[in-house]
Amino acid sequence: MITPPELLGLAESVVSEAGSLVAAGRRGEVEVSDTKSSPTDVVTAVDVAAEQLNRNRILTDRPGDGFLGEETGEVTGSSGVRWVVDPIDGTVNYLYEIAQFAVSLAVEVDGAAVAGVVHNPMSVETFTALRGEGAWLNGAAIRCSKRDDVAQALVGTGYGYRADVRTHQAAEISRLVSQVRDIRRFGAATLDLCFVACGRLDAHVERGLKPWDLAAAGLIAAEAGARVEGLHGAPAGELLVIAAPDSLFDALHGQLVASGYVDWPLTDWPAAMSP
Ligand code: IPD
Repeated sequence: MITPPELLGLAESVVSEAGSLVAAGRRGEVEVSDTKSSPTDVVTAVDVAAEQLNRNRILTDRPGDGFLGEETGEVTGSSGVRWVVDPIDGTVNYLYEIAQFAVSLAVEVDGAAVAGVVHNPMSVETFTALRGEGAWLNGAAIRCSKRDDVAQALVGTGYGYRADVRTHQAAEISRLVSQVRDIRRFGAATLDLCFVACGRLDAHVERGLKPWDLAAAGLIAAEAGARVEGLHGAPAGELLVIAAPDSLFDALHGQLVASGYVDWPLTDWPAAMSP
């Protein structure tokens, strides 16, 4: 039976190969090959190639495992192990040559993430975590900030790709921005959560994150000491992800509620909640 550290080792080696492919792809002209939820939600040929690399490497080594990828969907396994990959998180940054994008790979056992890797091939930073063991940046242990004052907190966020959804997100953020130190929108949710893990952000708050955005980076943030939850004790997920140090979480949660953040899918937003 393979152990979580061995699974992490395999994940790191696959992500390092995929990161080289992604970085090499950025040296030439990057072209959009497809769009998803909106005309600005793009896929490049490199997204697909990097996902195929992840998938082939993993399923060749471990044919009984499951696999979930942002671009190619789900392969059901029989071993209880599932790999969750975002081949390029921050595809729009990638397209614009902004060096804030990452390959993200998580390993789940019986539905819970046990190991995670988020690798930015441009900054050559690799964030890793093992459940119950901690989180690391390029091998050095990391911890989230000790901030406890919302007014002093630097908070990351992100928006969805649909214009109507963004209208609501903008309204929420407009009420929050005056209550915190400042807001950052870097454009790659996996790295935002890793920034919480290493204290470059005090917190991250975002709606609409998918399993491949959250699986590895959520574990990394949690293992670095952050609380990673939704609103009112719900698990972090598509409705909302709040990642913040324990010392800040409750106060930030209160501020989010006061700023009008609610637990409602933006895809089914009632008119009464419009800004
Ligand atoms: C997106 C980025 C962005 C976040 C979006 C994600 P993608 O991922 O992480 O920061 O705000 O919610 O969809 O599309 O670049 O893989």
